[in-house]
Amino acid sequence: MAADHELRAAAVVMVVVVVLGMVTTSSAHVFVGAYNTTCPNAEDIVYKEMTSILAKSPELAGPVLRLFSVDCFVGGCEGSILLDSTPGNKAEKDSPLNKGVKGYEVVDAIKAKLDAACPGIVSCADTLALAARDVVRLTKGPYIPLPTGRRDGNSSNAADVAANSPAPGATVNDLLTIFAKFNFTAKDLAVLSGAHTIGKAHCSAFSTRLYSNSSSNGGPTLDANYTTALRGQCKVGDVDTLVDLDPPTPTTFDTDYYKQVAAQRGLLATDAALLLNADTKAYVLRQANATSSDEFFADFIVSFVNMSKIGVLTHSHGEIRHKCSAVNPPSPPSSAAASMLATSLAGSLLFLLAGVLMLLF
Ligand code: HEM
Repeated sequence: MAADHELRAAAVVMVVVVVLGMVTTSSAHVFVGAYNTTCPNAEDIVYKEMTSILAKSPELAGPVLRLFSVDCFVGGCEGSILLDSTPGNKAEKDSPLNKGVKGYEVVDAIKAKLDAACPGIVSCADTLALAARDVVRLTKGPYIPLPTGRRDGNSSNAADVAANSPAPGATVNDLLTIFAKFNFTAKDLAVLSGAHTIGKAHCSAFSTRLYSNSSSNGGPTLDANYTTALRGQCKVGDVDTLVDLDPPTPTTFDTDYYKQVAAQRGLLATDAALLLNADTKAYVLRQANATSSDEFFADFIVSFVNMSKIGVLTHSHGEIRHKCSAVNPPSPPSSAAASMLATSLAGSLLFLLAGVLMLLF
């Protein structure tokens, strides 16, 4: 009786250990150097490719950095932004909010190089993450030691975009609410907005600020001289022209963005809105007056790495896409898998037979 009890207790402990083991191994975990053994040159390949792409087309820096943030904030950093729509499913990239998102071909080009060196090893999600990290370094920002090991998701839904991503007209409270969903603070918001130190925005993203006064559009104040200059760039109804987010140094990752925002020259309403919350305002003013970029760079590394961990898929979750714009086709069972299945079926049959024989005799 006692032995029976002990046996049952041991079985319970074993089940708990197995379940705990399953939970631990399936929980999201990315780490620096995840490809060190499986594709040792992966990070070098991305850096080399990104260097040559930006040497030829420096205007792709902003789009690639933005592409990564757009991926992470909707459903996690699992490459869902890269998926094309399919019959019956409108993907994230076709959401009206993502109309201006670009840089997909950069990810495809880098992924092709990675697959040539290590076929089927590096995910599209990691390709994008590493490319974005290298954009920061190549525009004179900090080197970000980036955890890798993300796998690719297999769904992408345009309807998720509006619900999860910060819209251009969002107030600072809207932004803080969205960030809080990811456990991000006001400081993270001020720091990550600093990515607008490079790149451009379409007139459509901010023109309401130019042609209606701040009390009617509910937005923060825009410097009068700057407004006049911007009206020269964006005529009424122009939605396509691109304007620098940080005109003094549009291709350099630095603290000038904060100087612009502090001087009421933040281009997007969401940039300017950083002055409407005490914490984000304090950060903007501190960086605007900083004599070095050290603090911003150190903060950006932390917030960027945290952003890069949102909703990652690891271990047995997700897949390594062959093509970044489409999920992998279902694969027929491999011969190894088929023989394992056959062995386990044969084992079960034998077990069943033994049971029947025992009952009979
Ligand atoms: C805080 C919430 C954010 C909002 C509301 C926001 C909004 C926007 C908008 C409206 C644009 C202009 C898009 C266009 O007109 O084509 C833009 C551009 C950009 N965003 Fe953000 N963004 C946010 C956070 C981020 C983050 C976290 C990053 C990266 C870490 C980022 C990086 C960029 C870059 C680099 C561009 C320039 C893109 C280009 O040159 O094509 N943004 N953002």
